[in-house]
Amino acid sequence: MAKDNSSCRSGVLPKAGKQDGPDATSSRRSGADPDATPFGTGRRALVTGAGSGIGRAAALALAQEGFEVLLVGRDSAKLAAVAEVVPSPVRIIAADIATSEGRAAIRDAVGERLDVLVNSAGQYLREPVASLSAEAWDALDAVNVRAPILLSQAVLTQLKSVQGQIVFINSSAGLAAGGQGMAAYAAGKHALKAAAEVLRLEVNRDGVRVLSVYPGRTDTAMQAAILAAEGRVAQAGALMRPEDVADMVVAALRLPRTAEVTDIVMRPMRPLR
Ligand SMILES: NC(=O)c1ccc[n+]([C@@H]2O[C@H](COP(=O)([O-])OP(=O)(O)OC[C@H]3O[C@@H](n4cnc5c(N)ncnc54)[C@H](OP(=O)(O)O)[C@@H]3O)[C@@H](O)[C@H]2O)c1
Repeated sequence: MAKDNSSCRSGVLPKAGKQDGPDATSSRRSGADPDATPFGTGRRALVTGAGSGIGRAAALALAQEGFEVLLVGRDSAKLAAVAEVVPSPVRIIAADIATSEGRAAIRDAVGERLDVLVNSAGQYLREPVASLSAEAWDALDAVNVRAPILLSQAVLTQLKSVQGQIVFINSSAGLAAGGQGMAAYAAGKHALKAAAEVLRLEVNRDGVRVLSVYPGRTDTAMQAAILAAEGRVAQAGALMRPEDVADMVVAALRLPRTAEVTDIVMRPMRPLR
């Protein structure tokens, strides 16, 4: 069961302080208050793919920091299980981010305020180019490429009004194509990298920061399916924990607004044998 969110207070960002230094002009231009911490009471975060894996870990980490978290996924039972252990006000939004109806429902549920959007929901497809169907490729792109960008668009007004932050959980496959059968997945993650970089150019002037995270193999349901398809078994320590990724996301989001982390590349310490 989701916890009742009604007691959640709406927060007020710290007022702009005295700005005399050389940063003052650029701060006024962006509307950014370099003294304002992005964390604090009354903050709200939306996490897609929050029912499992990296999204679940990110939701828990942000809740630990006091954010009200909105958990998004298609499977409300998975989201409810996460909500049970979230240590802060929490809401469940069961929606398919690949559909315009799903994104509209999420936008409506967000309301007037959103400080952090973590786009973690994603799917994996392993199919050689020789047998890759246009339909399967379109369906993958709808979730992995268009949905995170269009969802960011849907809540951009709220994010701009509080100088919020957008996170894209990309992949090592967004930087280098990887192995055989990865054409559709890797092409999509490369496209997401490009779209995130352009979005950053467009919203930085409003004080909105955009972070892309490129994890390697991480111990989640998706990675279990990948390993099974590859016919491999990961030895101990060969996978990162979802919490490793979430910790890095929170560290980057916490930075004062004088700086921005644009990209985080993460690998397991010990490569898969
Ligand atoms: N695990 C890795 O090794 C690894 C490495 C690099 C990058 N990544 C990336 O990390 C992200 C998270 O993956 P994960 O490893 O944490 O896998 P995961 O545990 O399978 O999580 C993916 C989540 O996405 C949600 N989802 C899928 N399609 C959706 C849709 N149409 N609408 C709403 N939610 C949807 C799923 O929930 P529902 O089924 O409830 O919808 C699921 O909770 C993905 O973008 C993935 O590409 C993972």
